[in-house]
Amino acid sequence: MSGKVLDELEKIRKQALADIERASERDFDDIRVKYLGRKSRLTEILKTLKDIPSEIKPKVGKTANDVRKDIENSLNKRSSIITGNSMAAKIETGSEDITKPGRTARLGSKHVITQTIEEIVEIFVGLGYRMVETGEVETDYYNFTALNTPEDHPARTLQATFYLEERAGCGDERTLLRTQTSPAQIRVMENSKPPLYVIVPGKVYRPDVPDPTHSPMFHQVEGFAVDKEITFGDLKGTLEAFCEKMFGAGRKVRFRPHFFPFTEPSAEVDVSCIVCGGKGCRVCSHTGWLEILGAGIIDPNVFEVVGYDPEEVSGFAFGMAPDRIAMLKYGITDIRMFFENDVRFLEQFK
Ligand code: DAH
Repeated sequence: MSGKVLDELEKIRKQALADIERASERDFDDIRVKYLGRKSRLTEILKTLKDIPSEIKPKVGKTANDVRKDIENSLNKRSSIITGNSMAAKIETGSEDITKPGRTARLGSKHVITQTIEEIVEIFVGLGYRMVETGEVETDYYNFTALNTPEDHPARTLQATFYLEERAGCGDERTLLRTQTSPAQIRVMENSKPPLYVIVPGKVYRPDVPDPTHSPMFHQVEGFAVDKEITFGDLKGTLEAFCEKMFGAGRKVRFRPHFFPFTEPSAEVDVSCIVCGGKGCRVCSHTGWLEILGAGIIDPNVFEVVGYDPEEVSGFAFGMAPDRIAMLKYGITDIRMFFENDVRFLEQFK
């Protein structure tokens, strides 16, 4: 008796698996009913187990249950292969390679220029300065005239300019993309009274052909202080404190006479080379110095324009290029790399 039932169970298993192997999606329900349904032979055997002699009951019971599980599993597997959307199906068909490494979520970070600007601003905020931002579209008046650079002033040719739509007779009202952050000096002074200690980061524009050291858009950080009895010594002390914080202890600062229309006297400022410390290397062209900003004592003409009395107040101003500072700091030889947004480049500064 037991041999007969067991043989029958094996037959059912073989038959069912063969049917499943050949089945298409619409056959699944029929197969399920035929082999696992209430009226199937397998169910009948399981139901009549109680009538089977107890010596063989465990063996028949186990086999019948195994056959049932086998049929269920292979139905499920076949069904997922056919519908093609389960991981098992993808592994089976080779469309999913489970040995591939997983995808990790990539974290963004601040752009290296943003980091540099924030570092600069933070140092000045620590010295008591207030951060202000003004617009990138300026008028001719704020960008040039009010900064002691009238229409026919030769200094204008030093800063080639992107002018916006020209209207006849608009003169000082003519709009442009600011070539420098210095117009913020006028805008702030017009609207507030000294004492002023202000730092202004922002983008500036000049129609330069892009090359390793030029980009038509770049950044500046403007700073200025207006108070009673501000001297060149204050400017020097401030910039020394800044360089020490920004580039490390022991930095020296050197002033070279220069010309800017809105400061008098004016200077270009060098810091002792942040790479070699002043001994001379490729970065500083073996001079030991790196030029990092322009600065000077605010010209009395500028104070008059904003209605300050130059006899009462004095001040200094400076403007620096964070792009250049970041290039020096990280040994980057082409300014265009900052703005190409190649993630492989930017990721180095996380
Ligand atoms: N605006 C100048 C430039 O773009 C930089 C500069 C020089 C700013 C001297 C200043 C300054 O405030 O005092 O070349």
